[in-house]
Amino acid sequence: MKIKSATFEISAPNLAGAPRLAQPEFAFIGRSNVGKSSLLNLLTEQNNLARVSDRPGKTRLLNFYSINQNWRLVDLPGYGYAHVSKTERADFNEAVAAYIEERENLRGVFVLIDSRLEPQPIDLEFVAWLVETRVTFAVIFTKADKQSPSRTKEAVARFREVALAELDPPPEIFVSSSKTKAGRKEILAYIGERL
Ligand code: GTP
Ligand code: MG
Repeated sequence: MKIKSATFEISAPNLAGAPRLAQPEFAFIGRSNVGKSSLLNLLTEQNNLARVSDRPGKTRLLNFYSINQNWRLVDLPGYGYAHVSKTERADFNEAVAAYIEERENLRGVFVLIDSRLEPQPIDLEFVAWLVETRVTFAVIFTKADKQSPSRTKEAVARFREVALAELDPPPEIFVSSSKTKAGRKEILAYIGERL
């Protein structure tokens, strides 16, 4: 899969504001600060397409990006960020849940997991919920440049055991880094197969 063009299309607070269904979509979800927006920039090779920030909670809307003018990447608001107001937080979770459960042109969800951390309760909860929706998903372990490959391998094995052991078939797994570009080719190939 070659990305020839990538442009911001629209931000929406909820499903009602999403663009027309015509094009297939792949969405990024994961805890705040895990690297969703960075991954979008990595895949499209545009450093400033999605806003990246050290401050968690940066992406607060459903952001739709048009790729090659015939499919989309969707940068979703992160979960698990406690510093937005309660009503706002509920709204975001509601919008993300509705998007994943109801979006007809959603071809796949990428769940991003910080490769440096032990499985976090909120990630486990989210994956369990996602399995229930029966949406096709893959798992991406981010920020691999921040530790040794063997540590990342351990983290992947541990997450597999705790969260994915009972899934048949098991979800596809990727390791990524927005610094070294690791994972880019593999993730794009995965998308290409499902378009
Ligand atoms: P929210 O929009 O708040 O949910 O966050 P996000 O998941 O979109 O994370 P974002 O891409 O904004 O990245 C958060 C921070 O992690 C930024 O400081 C990024 O530069 C950093 N970061 C993201 N991915 C990587 C990576 O692969 N390697 C390293 N070293 N830093 C990364
Ligand atoms: Mg973001």
